[in-house]
Parts: sequence; C-alpha cells; structure tokens
Amino acid sequence: VLRVEIGEVEGIPFTKTICSTWDQVWKFKARPDDLLIATYAKAGTTWTQEIVDMIQQNGDVEKCRRATTYRRHPFLEWSIQEPSVESYSGLELAEAMPSPRTIKTHLPVQLVPPSFWEQNCKIIYVARNAKDSLVSYYHFHRMSKGMPDPGTWEEFMEKFMTGKVLWGSWYDHVKGWWKAKDKHRILYLFYEDMKENPKQEIQKILKFLEKEVNQEVLNKILHNTSFEVMKENPMTNYTTEFQGIMDHSISPFMRKGVVGDWKNYFTVAQNKKFDEDYKKKMADTSLVFRTEL
Ligand code: A3P
Repeated sequence: VLRVEIGEVEGIPFTKTICSTWDQVWKFKARPDDLLIATYAKAGTTWTQEIVDMIQQNGDVEKCRRATTYRRHPFLEWSIQEPSVESYSGLELAEAMPSPRTIKTHLPVQLVPPSFWEQNCKIIYVARNAKDSLVSYYHFHRMSKGMPDPGTWEEFMEKFMTGKVLWGSWYDHVKGWWKAKDKHRILYLFYEDMKENPKQEIQKILKFLEKEVNQEVLNKILHNTSFEVMKENPMTNYTTEFQGIMDHSISPFMRKGVVGDWKNYFTVAQNKKFDEDYKKKMADTSLVFRTEL
C-alpha cells in the first residue's frame, strides 16, 4: 500500500509534504473576512463546512454542489502530491480564492499562521469527544492512503493516547483551542451538541456569522446537512474526489455519524486504561465532553 511519510513541525507529526511547505503555510496571508473552520481530524469538519456553505448559499443546495468541497473549502496546510492522484495544494487553492473565503485547518492553535490573529478572523472550532474521535480516526487511517498505516486497533489507541498521530495530541488540541477562545473570535462547538440539537447549533453559527435566514431556509439547511443526506451527496461524501486516496470499500468516509460508537470498539480493560489516562491529561482544563447522548 502506498502510504505517506511522516515528519514533524514543532514536535507535531505532519506529513512530509506539509513539513516541506511549512514556511509558506506559516507566512500565509489571512484576510479580515476569512472564516477558518478548525478541528482536530474527524470532529465534524466536513459537516460544519457544509452547514457554513448552506448558510452562505442561503440554502441553495445546487449552488453548494457546483464545486468540489476541497476547492470551496481547501485545507490550508493539506497537500497531496502523489502521481496517482490529482495534485492538491490547499495553500495554493486558498491563495487563489476570491473573498470571502472559508478555509479549513487541523492545525493546533499554536501553529495557526499569525496573520489569522492579526486580522482578527472569525474561527469556528469543532470538538468531538476523544473516544469517538479515536474510533473515527482509526477507520480513516484504514481507508485513506493520505494517512499512515494505523496498525492494529490496540496499537492505534496507544498512538492516539501518546499523541503520536498526525496533527498531534487530541488532548492538547482541544485544550489549546479552548483556552484561545476567550481571547479571540472563536465559536467553540461540540459534535455531540450538533448531533443532539442541530437546529440550535446551526443558529449559533448563524449568529456568529451575523446572518439571518427564514424558517424555510433553516429547514433546508437542516435537511441537507443531516448525516443521511450528506452520506448520499457526492460533494460531501468524497466519492468523487480523492479517488486514488480514499477507499470507501474499506470504510466509507461518511461512516456512522453517531455519538457513542466507541462502545463497539473499547474493551472493558481498554476503557479503564483510557479513562485513567484521560483524567490525568485533562486535569488542567474546564473542558467537559459527553461520550453518549
Ligand atoms: P464517523 O467516522 O464516526 O462516522 P471530519 O469531516 O472532521 O473528517 O469528520 C468525519 C466524521 O464526521 C465521520 O464520523 C463522519 O461520519 C461524521 N459526519 C460527517 N457528516 C456528518 C453529519 N452530517 N452528521 C453527523 N456526523 C457526520
């Protein structure tokens, strides 16, 4: 299997291609009207991007479907240069985009290019509980050649707990952004809340973006950003892009979309170990997650 090579930036594991373009990423020029969607991988990035897009297109799903997702919302620091696939550089796409731009990132808060803070850009951060993030990330590693080989479930869990995975430690990521939210224009959302009450969370996003929509449009946004609809939408389920990279027969990108799937993976012993370690790593934060609804 073709797999990526891993390097490091400031102690955070990144793909070699990102490491080699890191200087350019760091110097990225944000514009004041840029919106950044920031997440640790698998927290609901694609979901949030679709909500934002539906809001910006006033519920016009056809407009949303016109361009591939990575062109509409490139990952700032994400680039793939494999001969078997279309070469993709988030940095170049972002630079070429007309304003207002929506850009996505998995960067930990300390590695966000300084211009985003200088320009006081709005940022939506989405966090998902550690256990479901881990399960989702494991399956994503299995199906995406853009990710390193996960090894066994047990091995991957160890890597996740020690932060030796792409984008680094989940624990540091969610805590770092949580701290930053009081100093910057950051809307901090939770996947679990979005699942439980999507309408309420969409309304939070609307308010943050200073947009208003009528009831009909709100219902359209709700419908089109549901898991069931997004799973069938080729512009959001990644079946038409990254074809040489993602193998949906191993595990679909739109996999389950639920809270609490971790219970199907964690053994009792693994859960105990994970919880003990979690307590230590999360002792210095007021951040609280729900692992079931
Ligand atoms: P699962 O693997 O648990 O199913 P990201 O876009 O950050 O990579 O996150 C992907 C995860 O979000 C996947 O989780 C995917 O199924 C889930 N997801 C995507 N769209 C969703 C939606 N509309 N509702 C609920 N979950 C969604």
